Amino acid sequence: MTGTVAYEVRRALSDEELEAALRLRHEVFCIEQGVPRREEQDGRDPDGIHLVAIADGRLVGTCRLVMVGATAQLSRLAVTQSARRRGIATSLLEAADTETIAAGGRRVVLHAQTYARKLYESCGYRPRGRKFWEAGIEHIAMEKHLD
Ligand SMILES: CC(C)(COP(=O)(O)OP(=O)(O)OC[C@H]1O[C@@H](n2cnc3c(N)ncnc32)[C@H](O)[C@@H]1OP(=O)(O)O)[C@@H](O)C(=O)NCCC(=O)NCCS
Repeated sequence: MTGTVAYEVRRALSDEELEAALRLRHEVFCIEQGVPRREEQDGRDPDGIHLVAIADGRLVGTCRLVMVGATAQLSRLAVTQSARRRGIATSLLEAADTETIAAGGRRVVLHAQTYARKLYESCGYRPRGRKFWEAGIEHIAMEKHLD
């Protein structure tokens, strides 16, 4: 993918789109980053709101929100390698704020891989607590208040 790329960010609209999102997660987390499939597939997908980014008819990004009371747990943020550094993850995080508010949520929490901390900070997230290891990757908990 080169040059300016137009993309749309919204909820997954069909089982096929959800399957494409799960395939992208497998490619990025399990194949690229070496996360075991049993950790990537944590059983919470049926409870999730799945957001997708579509460019030229192709699913190029995704993330998942699980509402727990007024808190949205955001995870599984992935953008296909050829579409990175074009603002797609940033757009997914903005859409996640809108979805959280629509679901009655007031806060979004996540475990950020520390290398990507700046992405979340630029979207208004703040770190809380110490760094820790999850799935063999260094993380830090971050949160964003929406009220
Ligand atoms: C992390 C990831 C989702 C970012 O997606 P993206 O669409 O490329 O992100 P954006 O284009 O919105 O990036 C916005 C800003 O975040 C920061 N950022 C993004 N990727 C970064 C990286 N690899 N290293 C350092 N900073 C990064 C930069 O400040 C970037 O702004 P810039 O491009 O002007 O420098 C993507 O690289 C990915 O899927 N990585 C593998 C899976 C992963 O690590 N997921 C996150 C789990 S916490």
